[in-house]
Amino acid sequence: MAELGFEGKVVIITGAGGGLGREHALEFARRGARVVVNDLGGSVDGTGDGSKSPAEEVVAEIEAIGGEAVANGDSVASKEGGEAIVQTAIDAFGQIDIVVNNAGILRDKSFHNMTEEMMTLVLDVHLRGAMYVTQPAWIRMREQGSGAIVNTSSSSGLLGNFGQANYGAAKMGLVGFTRVLAQEGAKYNIRANAIAPVAKTRMTEELLGAMSEQLDPRLVTPVVVYLAHEDCETTGCVYSAAGGTIAKYFIGLTEGTARGQDITVETVRDDWDAINNEEGYIVPASPADEFAKLMGQWT
Ligand code: NAI
Repeated sequence: MAELGFEGKVVIITGAGGGLGREHALEFARRGARVVVNDLGGSVDGTGDGSKSPAEEVVAEIEAIGGEAVANGDSVASKEGGEAIVQTAIDAFGQIDIVVNNAGILRDKSFHNMTEEMMTLVLDVHLRGAMYVTQPAWIRMREQGSGAIVNTSSSSGLLGNFGQANYGAAKMGLVGFTRVLAQEGAKYNIRANAIAPVAKTRMTEELLGAMSEQLDPRLVTPVVVYLAHEDCETTGCVYSAAGGTIAKYFIGLTEGTARGQDITVETVRDDWDAINNEEGYIVPASPADEFAKLMGQWT
């Protein structure tokens, strides 16, 4: 058995019928976790009949390597769907320890042409979907005093990407969701982290060009599995993961300027370079850390 094992643990992975989610599901199963493989089927843009079969195929792969898994074909994009996914874990395995929110779709369009439907669908699957699945699991995790959440963000949100106003907003929304969960979960031994992956999957195969050979989705999975393991104490963080490279994203705050009662529009203009100077930045872990900095500058 692998050194970082998951014996006795139950994990839900959404959108695990292919791509990154399938790799995560296989690795958790290899390490002894019992896995709920969720996927509603459908195409990259979220259209199609919806079918349980991609999830069932991954369950068959897990069973072929001697693992335990169950398929679920509900959509993450509704409260009922989220509850049904968690209920599948409870019915099959009696508990839930880990949720990997991975399901996703794309509806790219430059913002001036983006329809309301494109905004709603993408926010519903990525952002609300993560909340719908996590909440019923979270309630159980609080009661049992342990749990781990791994959300799937993206550099399209952290850094911005042309044509992805809906997707970028949803993916950055997941960062805020992750950080709040980390704070609310701390008392209950529940951790929440996020990844920003790059991998060659059906979602990206036409976008990555020559780099795609290096970007096997399998190479993203180790950081997801580590973040979910009880030996990992980290919470509230975001990791870039691509082609076997892992790095930490963080939110920095510049030292800036402090004018107190004397601040005016013109002092902001005059201080602009100092405000934007990134030397000596801090990385606040919470609003309290930012407040401590402000208080220091006020006195
Ligand atoms: P993928 O298209 O292979 O996987 C997404 C899966 O989610 C599909 O199997 C799809 O059927 C499923 N899905 C879609 N809507 C669903 C819903 N409502 N309920 C349940 N399942 C649903 O794409 P990939 O690349 O594996 O994406 C996985 C995650 O990683 C997504 O959240 C994506 O946004 C994110 N991501 C991927 C990157 C990449 O380079 N591949 C880059 C940044 C983020």
